[in-house]
Amino acid sequence: MHQCEEEFGRWTGRGPEEVWAAPGRVNLVGEHTDYNGGFVLPLAIDRHTTAAVGRRQDGALRCRSLQFPDDDRSWAVYVDAVRAALGESGIDVHGADVLVDSDVPPGAGLSSSAALEVAAGAALAALGEAHPSAQELAAVAHRAETQFVGVPVGIMDQTVVATARAGHALFLDTRSLESEHIPFDPAANELSLVVIDSGVRRQLGDGRYAERRRECEEAAGRIGVAQLRDATLADVEDAGLDDTLRRRARHVVTEDARVVEVVERLRRGDLEGIGAALLASHASLRDDFEVSCPELDAAVEIAMAHGALGARMTGAGFGGCALALVPEERVRSTLAAFTTAFVVRPAGGVWRMGGMR
Ligand code: GLA
Repeated sequence: MHQCEEEFGRWTGRGPEEVWAAPGRVNLVGEHTDYNGGFVLPLAIDRHTTAAVGRRQDGALRCRSLQFPDDDRSWAVYVDAVRAALGESGIDVHGADVLVDSDVPPGAGLSSSAALEVAAGAALAALGEAHPSAQELAAVAHRAETQFVGVPVGIMDQTVVATARAGHALFLDTRSLESEHIPFDPAANELSLVVIDSGVRRQLGDGRYAERRRECEEAAGRIGVAQLRDATLADVEDAGLDDTLRRRARHVVTEDARVVEVVERLRRGDLEGIGAALLASHASLRDDFEVSCPELDAAVEIAMAHGALGARMTGAGFGGCALALVPEERVRSTLAAFTTAFVVRPAGGVWRMGGMR
């Protein structure tokens, strides 16, 4: 029995009816493009959040985490939000006990919130006798975060957490929502994908993420396109934008092109060849989009000095994690260079882990 099920039993005196798990994610490339209608290439990782749930007759939603102390409710807002978003889609979750266990570090830019939303969403939906598709779950989780928690995130995290395939990265067009699973198996190429935690914690709700979004919308408006996805580099350079908006827009346009380049290389099996694009992405996020921080820049430099083929910050930035593509024989010394670094493997999206029904 999974620890989560045992703890659920100790907590409620009965077994959970549904137990669902959803992974964290890293984004290989395509950062701050998903709210510009652009391309992203994230992958789910082999760390996940589990939600064990059982019905309650009194209509209450009672949440407990094996990681957070009982008086810290900061994480439970995501479960409340998911219940509300499910309700909006006509999936009625009356009352439930929800026990959450996770090895996705919170606030580290590995989508701990999307993992929680999708795992809890799947478990609560099943309690409500509904079985939404992975895409529908992603949409519910995204609505939970944007409308009920109130952070204006794009669709990338919830989509990959719900729909990823093991051994693949997810090439997603965030405008049409068309997606393709692109084979990505570092181990088969004697490589490892290393995640380095900068230790710097940030809050997406702190305003800087929303500020970047506004800047992108303003740049698109001045260029005269619906979204920056539709602009070319020449459009950006010729639009007479002020220096800040020009650099923001240049990041998005060049980042979209890097996603396409990396996908092409992966299709050819050229994993080693993606290193330069990862580095270029980092430089663009650091200099043009200005969402990196000294600790992330240092992580990238140290990883490169230890023999990585490429490295970049991943996720929203302002702290959180960097990733590095590292030849097998350099992994041990790379890991030793950091306080918190670990190898991740491309994993699958949300799945049912157990339950008594
Ligand atoms: C966060 C958001 C995503 C995306 C990234 C930046 O992870 O949740 O929607 O915008 O930042 O690429």
